[in-house]
Amino acid sequence: MSEQHDAVDVIRAKRDHQPLSDSQIDWVIDAYTRGAVADEQMSALAMAILLNGMSREEISRWTAAMIASGERLDFSSLSRPTADKHSTGGVGDKITLPLAPLVAACGVAVPQLSGRGLGHTGGTLDKLESIPGWQASLANDAMMRQLEDVGAVICAAGSGLAPADKKLYALRDVTGTVEAIPLIASSIMSKKIAEGTGALVLDVKVGSGAFMKTVDDARELARTMVDLGTDAGVTTVALLTDMTTPLGLTAGNALEVRESVEVLAGGGPADVVELTVALAREMLSAAGVSDVDPADALADGRAMDVWRRMVAAQGGDPDAELPTSTEQHVINAPASGVLRSLDAYAVGVAAWRLGAGRARKEDPVQAGAGVEMHAKPGDSVTAGQPLLTLHTDTPERFDRAVASLEGAWTIGEDRPERPDVVMERIA
Ligand code: URA
Repeated sequence: MSEQHDAVDVIRAKRDHQPLSDSQIDWVIDAYTRGAVADEQMSALAMAILLNGMSREEISRWTAAMIASGERLDFSSLSRPTADKHSTGGVGDKITLPLAPLVAACGVAVPQLSGRGLGHTGGTLDKLESIPGWQASLANDAMMRQLEDVGAVICAAGSGLAPADKKLYALRDVTGTVEAIPLIASSIMSKKIAEGTGALVLDVKVGSGAFMKTVDDARELARTMVDLGTDAGVTTVALLTDMTTPLGLTAGNALEVRESVEVLAGGGPADVVELTVALAREMLSAAGVSDVDPADALADGRAMDVWRRMVAAQGGDPDAELPTSTEQHVINAPASGVLRSLDAYAVGVAAWRLGAGRARKEDPVQAGAGVEMHAKPGDSVTAGQPLLTLHTDTPERFDRAVASLEGAWTIGEDRPERPDVVMERIA
């Protein structure tokens, strides 16, 4: 039982740059989860945290209090080690789809609790739900069985994990307090630590399509999360990766599943393959497996075998035709030259407006909607050739999607300097 405090005193302390005590943090998270601290009080505290920050000790205690608000899973009875990956969210980021079966094919179990898209970034569950029959919800015992039998699970996080974060995240979303590094770090890490993974690799995106627009901010977020994981006994590593342009050539649910299957079949865009293999290497090494090269397991079809079993175990038909949109609109290159840039945020907004994402949590998404890209920055293009194909079932959406792509690319003469896909590693 935590000591009794007063919400206004806690808010005033953070407003006046005083550190919060362990007991204040334990109390405010518990009381907010129970409804004894009101939303307007938690909003004021979240804004004070956004403006005045938190020390490492405060963030660590805040995270522990959010973990303690719910259940904690335990995979220690499994016959193999576990590793998970979390991405801070990007455009065309389908990496979880090939990555989870790839790592499982190399001997490490992957319990991947995923979310749905909100705003311009897509959600892994929305993508997988475009596979006919596939179910996102699994009971804990079914998840354990699938981890033991197949080695990989991608499913929805149950409502029992870090309920304080669910409530606080929804509040931050509507009070302009999402972008606070202590709050983002504790939100992500409370869920990952409660999930019970033994090792964790964080893919911290940097650029226009990401939460973190600058390398400095991404580095600070990565450092904070790696410290939180390490302090909690989870081997944690972060990669800072480029999100100035979309990953791969597709953004949208079924479009991204199709591209992921191409990667599992040994093809697919080079940047998706490179990042999948880089993250797989980190996950295997963090889980203590060093004698397998994931590039081989991708090339020789072992990862594809696990993918098919993973999809089937959750009711999906891996051989079913994926849904396609009923309407397409092609945007042609206005000039010949080299595609110098293609902005991730603009493509993400276009896919969202076409119906791949949702405006409110409860909205449905269209499986076939999204943006297909026919060139990546650095590719030569010819005037009049297709640059982008927009897909939707509701053609009245095309105008707003096209408007969001205004000024989203540049065509010039010289090949651009492109950042590496993996920019930095933080351990
Ligand atoms: N993802 C989360 O889970 N929480 C945040 O605060 C931001 C991104």
